Amino acid sequence: MPTLLLLEAMGNTGEYVLDAARDLGVEVIVVTHEDVFEEWYSPTLQAKIRNHAKLVFTDFSDSEGALRQLAELARAEHVDGVVACWEFLTPLVARLTADLGLPGNDPSRALSCRNKRIMARAFTEHGIPAPLTLAARTVEEAFARVEAAGLTYPIVVKPSEQSGSWGVSVVRSDEELATAFALAQSHLFQMPHGIPLDAHVVVQEYVGGVEFSIETVVADGVATPLVPYDKFTTDGAKRAEFGHTVPAELEDASVRILQEAAVAAARALGITDGVAHTELKLLPDGTTRIIELGARLPGDHVVALMRQARGIDEAKVYVQIALGLAPDLTPTADTAAGIRFLVPPRGGVLRSVSGIGESAAVARSSLTVRPGGQVRAPGDNDARVGYVIVHADTAAEVNRAAAEAIANVTIEVD
Ligand SMILES: Nc1ncnc2c1ncn2[C@@H]1O[C@H](COP(=O)(O)OP(=O)(O)O)[C@@H](O)[C@H]1O
Ligand SMILES: [Mg+2]
Repeated sequence: MPTLLLLEAMGNTGEYVLDAARDLGVEVIVVTHEDVFEEWYSPTLQAKIRNHAKLVFTDFSDSEGALRQLAELARAEHVDGVVACWEFLTPLVARLTADLGLPGNDPSRALSCRNKRIMARAFTEHGIPAPLTLAARTVEEAFARVEAAGLTYPIVVKPSEQSGSWGVSVVRSDEELATAFALAQSHLFQMPHGIPLDAHVVVQEYVGGVEFSIETVVADGVATPLVPYDKFTTDGAKRAEFGHTVPAELEDASVRILQEAAVAAARALGITDGVAHTELKLLPDGTTRIIELGARLPGDHVVALMRQARGIDEAKVYVQIALGLAPDLTPTADTAAGIRFLVPPRGGVLRSVSGIGESAAVARSSLTVRPGGQVRAPGDNDARVGYVIVHADTAAEVNRAAAEAIANVTIEVD
């Protein structure tokens, strides 16, 4: 029985990877921090791991110590592959797999898939179309660089190393830039593991157009892009994701442009064995700009949407590639699926959520905050209180049914 080391099963891809490994007859060793396991894992996930996996504790805030401990463990347990379900750990996966001689990405370039400042440099070096990007340690430095580069408002300000739209702002004045800069630099440890983060703030040209995501599967250096899908975000100063629809309704020529850009970006960032989640914009002139790429599975239950819409299980594919097996990439379905997040009108204490599931197309729904729980004002992805997943034959039907389902929901906040 092959053995898989899974670094951090928290986040919504952990369960998908555990299920895929079980279906493939793979033994899993889950690695996390003891406090994170006790305080952050849902009871369902804790039970799944206790019943079907081994559990090992480490301290990811000490990456050198974790690397030593896990390399030793992997050798003792004859581990055949390493994956992560937490984007911050993808550089550690690359170092571990290189150390152990297992399938994985180039460790010397792994940080470019995680750190937006380093990513931008790699995109420039490889001629990948991306927004003009500057980086600064202080706000004074940011203003000087913006002026020297001739960047004009609107401008995007973001932390080098966060995720979930946290600290990302679209700014339109010097005052807004200064405020956004301070916000982007205000959390320099990744929670809950306390991993130290790059203090540089990234300042970017704002790219218009329409945004999409695309998954790219790379096995032994051969890249296969999946279908591009819609990524819906709010359009003000904050860009929270409010939904995804798989696939996007696009002409073949646009699909090809997005797929070629995603494959080129994955190559530029040293992805040879694994999955890449790419976010990119399609401009009216038919060109693209890559917003970011992570060497990870997509979040937001896109694994379930892709499985439903196309019959491709990206979690299974990720496990197969990590173990050096040929990935199952043949689509077995040609339908559509979408997710929409429930976001409160403002921050406060959640009183009630009603009306979920009254639409026939809703396949699944979940409340992720219980009544009485604290909710954040809309802004980043942490403001969500739940979601609905919709299935239908086409993307247009999914979008229509999702709009109807969301319109039926009332969220009350005190
Ligand atoms: N340069 C940009 N131009 C236009 N929109 C952007 C730009 N950078 C980020 N955004 C918007 O903000 C969202 C979050 O930014 P992103 O770089 O993906 O950060 P995160 O890692 O937190 O997801 C993007 O999905 C996109 O909608
Ligand atoms: Mg993003």
